[in-house]
Amino acid sequence: MQIAKSVRLMQRLSGALPRPVVLVPTMGALHAGHLALVKKAKRFSGRVGSTVVSLFVNPTQFGPVEDFHKYPRTFQADCELLRNARCGIVFAPNPEEMYFSDKSTTVVESELSRVMCGASRPGHFSGVCTVVAKLFLITRPNIAIFGEKDFQQLAILRRMARDLNFPVRIVSHPTVREKDGLALSSRNRFLTNKERRAATVIFSTLLEAEQKIRNGWHLTSRVEDWMRASISEEELAKIDYVVAVDPVTLQPSDRIRMPVLLAAAVFFGSTRLIDNRLLE
Ligand code: PAF
Repeated sequence: MQIAKSVRLMQRLSGALPRPVVLVPTMGALHAGHLALVKKAKRFSGRVGSTVVSLFVNPTQFGPVEDFHKYPRTFQADCELLRNARCGIVFAPNPEEMYFSDKSTTVVESELSRVMCGASRPGHFSGVCTVVAKLFLITRPNIAIFGEKDFQQLAILRRMARDLNFPVRIVSHPTVREKDGLALSSRNRFLTNKERRAATVIFSTLLEAEQKIRNGWHLTSRVEDWMRASISEEELAKIDYVVAVDPVTLQPSDRIRMPVLLAAAVFFGSTRLIDNRLLE
Protein backbone atom coordinates (compact mmCIF):
# COMPACT_ATOMS: atom_id res chain seq x y z
CA MET A 1 0.00 0.00 0.00
CA GLN A 2 1.39 3.39 -0.98
CA ILE A 3 0.72 6.49 1.12
CA ALA A 4 0.69 9.84 -0.67
CA LYS A 5 0.75 12.86 1.61
CA SER A 6 1.28 15.50 -1.03
CA VAL A 7 -1.11 16.64 -3.75
CA ARG A 8 1.69 16.58 -6.28
CA LEU A 9 2.61 12.94 -5.57
CA MET A 10 -1.05 11.89 -5.63
CA GLN A 11 -1.55 13.66 -8.95
CA ARG A 12 1.52 11.97 -10.39
CA LEU A 13 0.32 8.56 -9.18
CA SER A 14 -3.25 8.99 -10.36
CA GLY A 15 -2.07 9.78 -13.90
CA ALA A 16 -0.58 6.29 -14.13
CA LEU A 17 -2.96 4.15 -12.06
CA PRO A 18 -4.50 1.09 -13.70
CA ARG A 19 -8.20 1.75 -14.34
CA PRO A 20 -10.85 1.68 -13.12
CA VAL A 21 -9.76 3.88 -10.26
CA VAL A 22 -12.23 3.68 -7.37
CA LEU A 23 -12.09 6.37 -4.68
CA VAL A 24 -13.44 6.12 -1.15
CA PRO A 25 -13.32 9.63 0.40
CA THR A 26 -13.18 9.55 4.22
CA MET A 27 -12.19 11.73 7.13
CA GLY A 28 -10.37 8.79 8.74
CA ALA A 29 -11.23 7.33 12.17
CA LEU A 30 -12.23 4.32 10.15
CA HIS A 31 -14.85 1.83 11.34
CA ALA A 32 -16.66 -1.14 9.83
CA GLY A 33 -18.88 1.20 7.80
CA HIS A 34 -15.85 2.64 6.00
CA LEU A 35 -14.38 -0.83 5.53
CA ALA A 36 -17.61 -1.92 3.83
CA LEU A 37 -17.08 0.96 1.37
CA VAL A 38 -13.50 -0.16 0.77
CA LYS A 39 -14.67 -3.74 0.19
CA LYS A 40 -17.17 -2.48 -2.35
CA ALA A 41 -14.45 -0.36 -3.98
CA LYS A 42 -12.28 -3.46 -4.32
CA ARG A 43 -15.14 -5.26 -6.05
CA PHE A 44 -15.50 -2.39 -8.54
CA SER A 45 -11.77 -2.02 -9.16
CA GLY A 46 -11.46 -5.78 -9.74
CA ARG A 47 -8.18 -7.52 -10.44
CA VAL A 48 -6.67 -4.81 -12.60
CA GLY A 49 -8.03 -1.54 -11.25
CA SER A 50 -6.96 0.59 -8.28
CA THR A 51 -8.52 1.49 -4.96
CA VAL A 52 -7.71 4.87 -3.45
CA VAL A 53 -8.87 5.87 0.04
CA SER A 54 -8.51 9.48 1.16
CA LEU A 55 -8.01 10.27 4.85
CA PHE A 56 -8.56 13.98 5.37
CA VAL A 57 -10.36 15.80 8.16
CA ASN A 58 -11.63 18.64 6.03
CA PRO A 59 -11.63 21.92 7.99
CA THR A 60 -13.90 23.74 5.56
CA GLN A 61 -16.91 21.55 6.30
CA PHE A 62 -16.87 22.31 10.04
CA GLY A 63 -18.56 25.42 11.43
CA PRO A 64 -16.69 27.72 13.86
CA VAL A 65 -18.30 26.13 16.93
CA GLU A 66 -18.20 22.56 15.62
CA ASP A 67 -15.89 19.67 16.51
CA PHE A 68 -13.05 20.04 13.95
CA HIS A 69 -10.29 20.05 16.58
CA LYS A 70 -11.94 17.29 18.56
CA TYR A 71 -12.65 15.09 15.52
CA PRO A 72 -10.83 11.76 16.04
CA ARG A 73 -7.55 11.35 14.19
CA THR A 74 -6.29 7.77 14.14
CA PHE A 75 -3.90 7.76 11.19
CA GLN A 76 -1.75 4.74 12.16
CA ALA A 77 -4.75 2.56 13.01
CA ASP A 78 -6.50 3.65 9.79
CA CYS A 79 -3.46 2.69 7.70
CA GLU A 80 -3.32 -0.70 9.41
CA LEU A 81 -6.98 -1.37 8.63
CA LEU A 82 -6.51 -0.25 5.03
CA ARG A 83 -3.40 -2.40 4.62
CA ASN A 84 -5.40 -5.41 5.85
CA ALA A 85 -8.20 -4.50 3.46
CA ARG A 86 -5.62 -4.54 0.65
CA CYS A 87 -6.22 -0.93 -0.32
CA GLY A 88 -3.82 0.24 -3.05
CA ILE A 89 -3.25 3.89 -2.26
CA VAL A 90 -3.96 6.14 0.71
CA PHE A 91 -4.14 9.86 0.05
CA ALA A 92 -3.60 11.66 3.36
CA PRO A 93 -2.77 15.34 2.85
CA ASN A 94 -2.69 17.88 5.65
CA PRO A 95 -4.87 21.03 5.45
CA GLU A 96 -1.96 23.24 4.30
CA GLU A 97 -1.35 20.80 1.45
CA MET A 98 -5.01 20.85 0.37
CA TYR A 99 -5.83 24.54 0.77
CA PHE A 100 -3.85 27.64 -0.18
CA SER A 101 -3.94 30.17 2.63
CA ASP A 102 -5.43 32.75 0.22
CA LYS A 103 -7.88 30.37 -1.48
CA SER A 104 -10.91 32.16 -2.91
CA THR A 105 -12.74 29.46 -4.86
CA THR A 106 -15.45 27.19 -3.47
CA VAL A 107 -18.06 24.88 -4.92
CA VAL A 108 -21.62 25.62 -3.84
CA GLU A 109 -24.65 23.43 -4.48
CA SER A 110 -27.49 25.82 -3.90
CA GLU A 111 -30.71 23.82 -3.87
CA LEU A 112 -30.48 20.57 -1.90
CA SER A 113 -28.06 22.19 0.55
CA ARG A 114 -30.68 24.60 1.92
CA VAL A 115 -32.53 22.09 4.09
CA MET A 116 -31.89 19.54 6.84
CA CYS A 117 -28.16 19.45 7.74
CA GLY A 118 -27.58 22.36 5.37
CA ALA A 119 -30.01 24.53 7.38
CA SER A 120 -28.44 23.59 10.72
CA ARG A 121 -24.83 23.70 9.53
CA PRO A 122 -24.42 26.74 7.25
CA GLY A 123 -21.48 26.30 4.86
CA HIS A 124 -21.10 22.59 5.63
CA PHE A 125 -22.07 21.31 2.21
CA SER A 126 -20.06 23.91 0.40
CA GLY A 127 -17.06 22.59 2.35
CA VAL A 128 -17.99 19.03 1.40
CA CYS A 129 -18.53 19.88 -2.30
CA THR A 130 -15.28 21.82 -2.50
CA VAL A 131 -13.16 19.10 -0.94
CA VAL A 132 -14.81 16.29 -2.92
CA ALA A 133 -14.38 18.24 -6.17
CA LYS A 134 -10.70 18.68 -5.29
CA LEU A 135 -10.38 14.98 -4.42
CA PHE A 136 -11.95 14.09 -7.78
CA LEU A 137 -9.51 16.36 -9.62
CA ILE A 138 -6.48 15.11 -7.70
CA THR A 139 -7.23 11.37 -7.74
CA ARG A 140 -9.19 11.24 -11.03
CA PRO A 141 -11.45 8.32 -10.09
CA ASN A 142 -13.82 6.54 -12.45
CA ILE A 143 -16.03 5.62 -9.51
CA ALA A 144 -16.47 7.13 -6.04
CA ILE A 145 -18.21 5.37 -3.16
CA PHE A 146 -20.16 7.08 -0.37
CA GLY A 147 -22.27 5.77 2.53
CA GLU A 148 -26.04 6.16 2.60
CA LYS A 149 -26.01 7.31 6.24
CA ASP A 150 -25.11 10.73 4.86
CA PHE A 151 -28.08 10.63 2.49
CA GLN A 152 -28.21 14.37 1.91
CA GLN A 153 -24.47 14.52 1.23
CA LEU A 154 -24.87 11.72 -1.30
CA ALA A 155 -27.73 13.53 -3.08
CA ILE A 156 -25.74 16.78 -3.18
CA LEU A 157 -22.57 15.13 -4.47
CA ARG A 158 -24.54 13.34 -7.21
CA ARG A 159 -26.00 16.73 -8.18
CA MET A 160 -22.56 18.36 -8.13
CA ALA A 161 -21.00 15.58 -10.25
CA ARG A 162 -23.86 15.91 -12.74
CA ASP A 163 -23.89 19.71 -12.87
CA LEU A 164 -20.11 20.02 -13.21
CA ASN A 165 -19.74 17.06 -15.62
CA PHE A 166 -17.31 15.15 -13.47
CA PRO A 167 -16.68 11.86 -15.30
CA VAL A 168 -17.20 9.98 -12.04
CA ARG A 169 -19.87 7.41 -11.31
CA ILE A 170 -21.18 7.87 -7.77
CA VAL A 171 -22.03 4.61 -6.04
CA SER A 172 -23.65 4.34 -2.61
CA HIS A 173 -23.52 1.71 0.09
CA PRO A 174 -26.15 0.95 2.76
CA THR A 175 -25.60 2.16 6.31
CA VAL A 176 -23.76 -0.30 8.51
CA ARG A 177 -25.29 -0.65 11.98
CA GLU A 178 -24.49 -1.98 15.41
CA LYS A 179 -26.59 -4.97 16.52
CA ASP A 180 -29.04 -2.64 18.29
CA GLY A 181 -29.53 -0.53 15.16
CA LEU A 182 -27.28 2.46 15.90
CA ALA A 183 -25.66 3.61 12.66
CA LEU A 184 -21.87 3.38 12.76
CA SER A 185 -20.25 6.79 12.94
CA SER A 186 -16.80 8.06 13.86
CA ARG A 187 -18.57 10.31 16.38
CA ASN A 188 -20.15 7.40 18.31
CA ARG A 189 -16.93 7.14 20.33
CA PHE A 190 -17.78 10.50 21.96
CA LEU A 191 -20.99 9.12 23.53
CA THR A 192 -21.05 8.24 27.22
CA ASN A 193 -22.49 4.80 28.04
CA LYS A 194 -25.84 6.38 28.89
CA GLU A 195 -25.89 8.45 25.70
CA ARG A 196 -24.86 5.42 23.67
CA ARG A 197 -27.86 3.47 25.02
CA ALA A 198 -30.17 6.44 24.46
CA ALA A 199 -29.00 6.92 20.86
CA THR A 200 -30.78 3.75 19.71
CA VAL A 201 -33.99 5.81 19.87
CA ILE A 202 -33.19 7.34 16.47
CA PHE A 203 -33.29 4.14 14.46
CA SER A 204 -36.13 2.57 16.45
CA THR A 205 -38.18 5.72 15.79
CA LEU A 206 -37.41 5.61 12.06
CA LEU A 207 -38.48 1.94 11.93
CA GLU A 208 -41.72 2.58 13.83
CA ALA A 209 -42.52 5.58 11.65
CA GLU A 210 -42.03 3.37 8.62
CA GLN A 211 -44.59 0.91 10.03
CA LYS A 212 -47.07 3.72 10.66
CA ILE A 213 -46.74 4.89 7.06
CA ARG A 214 -47.12 1.35 5.75
CA ASN A 215 -50.22 1.01 7.97
CA GLY A 216 -51.78 4.02 6.28
CA TRP A 217 -50.57 7.22 7.98
CA HIS A 218 -50.73 9.72 5.12
CA LEU A 219 -50.14 13.12 6.64
CA THR A 220 -46.53 14.27 6.71
CA SER A 221 -47.11 16.49 9.74
CA ARG A 222 -48.60 13.57 11.69
CA VAL A 223 -45.60 11.36 10.93
CA GLU A 224 -43.08 14.11 11.72
CA ASP A 225 -44.88 15.07 14.95
CA TRP A 226 -44.94 11.45 16.04
CA MET A 227 -41.23 11.00 15.29
CA ARG A 228 -40.42 14.17 17.25
CA ALA A 229 -42.48 12.96 20.22
CA SER A 230 -40.95 9.47 20.09
CA ILE A 231 -37.36 10.77 20.10
CA SER A 232 -38.17 13.34 22.79
CA GLU A 233 -39.29 10.58 25.15
CA GLU A 234 -35.58 9.87 25.50
CA GLU A 235 -34.49 12.58 27.93
CA LEU A 236 -30.87 12.69 26.71
CA ALA A 237 -31.97 13.38 23.13
CA LYS A 238 -32.12 16.94 21.81
CA ILE A 239 -33.62 17.07 18.33
CA ASP A 240 -31.99 19.14 15.62
CA TYR A 241 -34.49 18.08 12.94
CA VAL A 242 -36.79 15.24 11.92
CA VAL A 243 -38.27 15.19 8.44
CA ALA A 244 -40.24 13.08 5.99
CA VAL A 245 -39.24 14.34 2.55
CA ASP A 246 -39.00 13.44 -1.10
CA PRO A 247 -35.62 11.67 -1.48
CA VAL A 248 -34.81 13.46 -4.74
CA THR A 249 -35.80 17.05 -3.96
CA LEU A 250 -35.47 16.72 -0.15
CA GLN A 251 -38.69 18.79 0.05
CA PRO A 252 -41.73 17.80 2.12
CA SER A 253 -45.24 17.55 0.75
CA ASP A 254 -48.47 17.66 2.79
CA ARG A 255 -49.14 13.99 2.18
CA ILE A 256 -46.64 11.16 2.27
CA ARG A 257 -45.90 9.95 -1.24
CA MET A 258 -43.60 7.01 -1.93
CA PRO A 259 -40.66 7.00 -2.12
CA VAL A 260 -40.15 8.95 1.07
CA LEU A 261 -37.03 9.64 3.12
CA LEU A 262 -37.36 9.71 6.90
CA ALA A 263 -34.36 11.49 8.37
CA ALA A 264 -33.26 12.81 11.74
CA ALA A 265 -30.40 14.68 13.36
CA VAL A 266 -30.24 14.46 17.13
CA PHE A 267 -27.79 15.66 19.77
CA PHE A 268 -26.77 13.46 22.69
CA GLY A 269 -24.75 15.79 24.86
CA SER A 270 -22.54 17.64 22.40
CA THR A 271 -22.48 14.75 19.91
CA ARG A 272 -24.71 15.21 16.88
CA LEU A 273 -25.84 12.01 15.18
CA ILE A 274 -27.75 11.61 11.91
CA ASP A 275 -29.65 8.69 10.47
CA ASN A 276 -32.30 8.01 7.86
CA ARG A 277 -34.58 5.40 6.39
CA LEU A 278 -35.64 5.34 2.74
CA LEU A 279 -39.07 3.85 2.05
CA GLU A 280 -39.50 2.82 -1.56
O1 PAF B 1 -18.54 11.78 4.60
C1 PAF B 1 -17.41 12.20 4.92
O2 PAF B 1 -16.65 11.53 5.63
C2 PAF B 1 -16.95 13.55 4.41
O3 PAF B 1 -18.00 14.45 4.37
C3 PAF B 1 -16.24 13.46 3.05
C4 PAF B 1 -17.18 13.00 1.96
C5 PAF B 1 -15.03 12.53 3.15
C6 PAF B 1 -15.72 14.86 2.65
O4 PAF B 1 -14.83 15.36 3.58
